[in-house]
Parts: sequence; structure tokens; C-alpha cells
Amino acid sequence: MAEIAVEATETPAQLPHVKVAILGAGKMGGILLQAFLKQNLFAPAQIHATVAHPERAIALSTQWGVDVSTDNLAAASQADLILLGVKPFQVPELVESIRPALTRHKTLVSFAASVKTRAIEEAAGMDIAVIRAMPNTPSALGAGAAALCRGRFVSEEQMELAHRIFETVGRTVVVDEKHMDAVTGLSASGPAYIYIIIEALAEAGVKVGLPRDTATQLAAQTVFGSAKMVLETGYHPALLKDAVTTPAGCTIDGILELEEGGLRVTLIKAVMRATQRARELAAG
Ligand SMILES: NC(=O)c1ccc[n+]([C@@H]2O[C@H](COP(=O)([O-])OP(=O)(O)OC[C@H]3O[C@@H](n4cnc5c(N)ncnc54)[C@H](OP(=O)(O)O)[C@@H]3O)[C@@H](O)[C@H]2O)c1
Repeated sequence: MAEIAVEATETPAQLPHVKVAILGAGKMGGILLQAFLKQNLFAPAQIHATVAHPERAIALSTQWGVDVSTDNLAAASQADLILLGVKPFQVPELVESIRPALTRHKTLVSFAASVKTRAIEEAAGMDIAVIRAMPNTPSALGAGAAALCRGRFVSEEQMELAHRIFETVGRTVVVDEKHMDAVTGLSASGPAYIYIIIEALAEAGVKVGLPRDTATQLAAQTVFGSAKMVLETGYHPALLKDAVTTPAGCTIDGILELEEGGLRVTLIKAVMRATQRARELAAG
């Protein structure tokens, strides 16, 4: 994926007093880190990130202009806010390994799928604030969708801080923890489903004679515009669909094919399957 251009800025960071560690700055962690810099939420000096491989740490440090190492304990020691971005099965071991750096005043924000706040609290071995977040990759462009839920020891202030951080990279909702796997199956996995839909629509455009670039642009902009209509008008999607569907026109013929092909049921099953898988991930 193309990296986000981060330009040096003289403007003070929006949250100048918060020191952040991103432990496991892989695809999602890297997207969040670059988006935080791009939105000027934190200055580069406020962020310490870690990865597993030393050579990657050196390369990413040069690329992002922030301190990247393989030393989770050192990064966590310097931070008030610790983001956990390793694979789900690695989370408990990672948290145990940073125990000496943890205090009750720090906040842990895990964006690993599947891993419960209680498991993280237990791994930390203390009554510490744990927030789960489930972002998605369009956070890279400030167009993410994220859900947050709180553990047992999270203050309003800590929740507000997490909300503020994720709002800078997209739309953020707060849900009960029991819904986090469903969020994973819907909006965290969702971009992959939508890319397939855009790719398929573009193929269709090619089939009916459009140049591929034109077809891809039209398909992507149609998805973007339709999503904007749902979000900004607040109308039910069915009502917006009806407005496109002239009696005996072309769209209803297209819809007939979609229904025969089972698009709705397929999408429902995709989210159900991904949600089910999200429930299993923490176990490895
Ligand atoms: N990708 C998504 O769309 C998405 C969306 C929402 C949530 N998530 C969650 O984000 C987490 C990471 O997923 P990802 O797709 O970003 O995977 P990823 O690209 O493989 O990132 C994992 C990162 O963790 C690092 N790592 C592994 N062991 C480590 C350790 N002991 N200490 C420090 N860093 C370590 C890896 O380092 P190296 O680079 O050196 O191997 C890698 O950079 C998962 O828990 C996933 O559920 C992902």
C-alpha cells in the first residue's frame, strides 16, 4: 500500500502532553501512526513504535521520522498511552513482558481483534485502564470506521482521549464489548468486501465497453457517493435505492440480477463468517 506523505510542520501538536507507544507497528499500527502524524495529533518526538525485526525498525524509523525499535519495555516505559498492535495471540505475552513499565495512570488501547479487555487486564496484573478499538485501513486517509469499548477501570477522561484520537482518523462509535467481534466482521474486514465489489463493478464496466481506468473511477466514486448519501442524508438505504429505481427502467433489471445472484445473502453470510472467526482469533 502507498505510504501517506507526512510533511514536517511547525504547528504545535493537538495533544502535546501525551506520550504514545505503538507496540506492533505493522500494517494497521503503521497506518494509525502515519495518520496521527499527518493529522498533527502528536509530534514525531511523542511517538515510540516497536516491531519484531530490527532491520524493519531501522527502515521504518528513517521512513517515518519517529523512534522505532524492538524494545517494547523501553517504549512502554516512556508512554502514557500504549497501543497494542500485534497479532491477537501475541497480546497477552506482550502485555506480560511490559508489566514493569505499567502503572495505574497509563492507558492500554488494544486494536487486536478478538482479545478481551479482561484478558489484557489479567496479563497486566493490575487494575489498569484497557480500551479496545477496532479501526479499519481507510483510517490512512482519515476515512476510517472504528468502534471503541471500555474495560472495567477506564475513566471518562481516558475514554474521551481514545475517542478523540480515533475521531481524527475517521468515524468512531462506542459499543459494548460483546459487539466487538461483530464490528471486526463488518467494518474492520469490510474494506476488503467493498474492494471486491469495486473491482467487480469495474470488470463489468470493461465488459460493457468502458476503458478500465474509467470504469474503476466510476465504480469507486459510485461507492463513495452512495456511502456519503447514506451518512449525510440519514435516509434508509432502501429509500435511496428506490429513488434510483425508475419503474420499468434499467436499474430494476440490474437489481433483479443482484437478487437472483444472492448478493444480500452473500454479504450477510460474509459478515457472519468473519464475526465467527473473530471470536476464535485470540486463541491463535
Ligand atoms: N489489517 C487490518 O485491516 C486490521 C484492522 C483492525 C485491526 N487489526 C489488528 O491489528 C493487529 C495487527 O494486524 P496487522 O494486519 O497490522 O498485522 P501485521 O502487519 O503483521 O502487524 C503486526 C506487527 O507486529 C509486530 N510484532 C510482532 N511481534 C512483535 C513483538 N513481540 N513486539 C513488537 N512488535 C511485534 C510485527 O513486526 P515485524 O513487522 O517486524 O514483523 C508487525 O509489524 C492484529 O491484532 C489485527 O487484529 C488489523
